[in-house]
Amino acid sequence: MMVLDLLLAIQREHDACIGFRFSCRVAMCGTCTLRLDGRSVLACQTPVPQDRDTVRLDPVAGLPVLRDLVVDTAPFWREWAKVTPYLVPHDGLTEPAVVTPDSDERRLIDASLDCIGCAACYSSCAVAAGSRDFVGPAALNRAMVLVADSRDAAAEQRLAVADGAGGVDRCHYVYGCSAVCPKGLDPAAAIRYLRKSRLKS
Ligand code: SF4
Ligand code: FES
Repeated sequence: MMVLDLLLAIQREHDACIGFRFSCRVAMCGTCTLRLDGRSVLACQTPVPQDRDTVRLDPVAGLPVLRDLVVDTAPFWREWAKVTPYLVPHDGLTEPAVVTPDSDERRLIDASLDCIGCAACYSSCAVAAGSRDFVGPAALNRAMVLVADSRDAAAEQRLAVADGAGGVDRCHYVYGCSAVCPKGLDPAAAIRYLRKSRLKS
């Protein structure tokens, strides 16, 4: 039984008013994130521990709680928007503009590409949870993907955000973000990459 199944059973059999979020049930939408015994997880992908009688469920940390396990994700997406989270193509790119398969660039991008915006990393980051002005691991991971992409023309503005007061220097490299990412991404490595890119620019 997954944690989401447990919540659905509670809603069906005990408390129809309990508040929680989900959509895809297959680790694609990132809406079901919560904390299970303190660890940020996707409820749809995380089995209920079988070795004890009780578990503790809390909402994502660092975001305002609306009700029960439902948080307001607007602050997370505001930070995401700061890094211009979409490709800004260079002038004169001809279609199809592809990153060369099997290249170092392709491998670098692919390793950080599958973010579903679940905010588990944000929830696990004491810096993001404790202050409203840290861009946060997910947004910086997204910035890294685009800075590494040779088709993109907005690296400078992203590096300016990474270099700003809420940027990479706020990271203490505790690696909580990378430890919990359900997609196996490594936002801490992305932050390291941005630090190095900033020094080169
Ligand atoms: S980097 Fe990982 S943990 Fe963070 S929002 Fe993206 S998928 Fe979720
Ligand atoms: S319901 Fe979509 S990721 Fe869990």
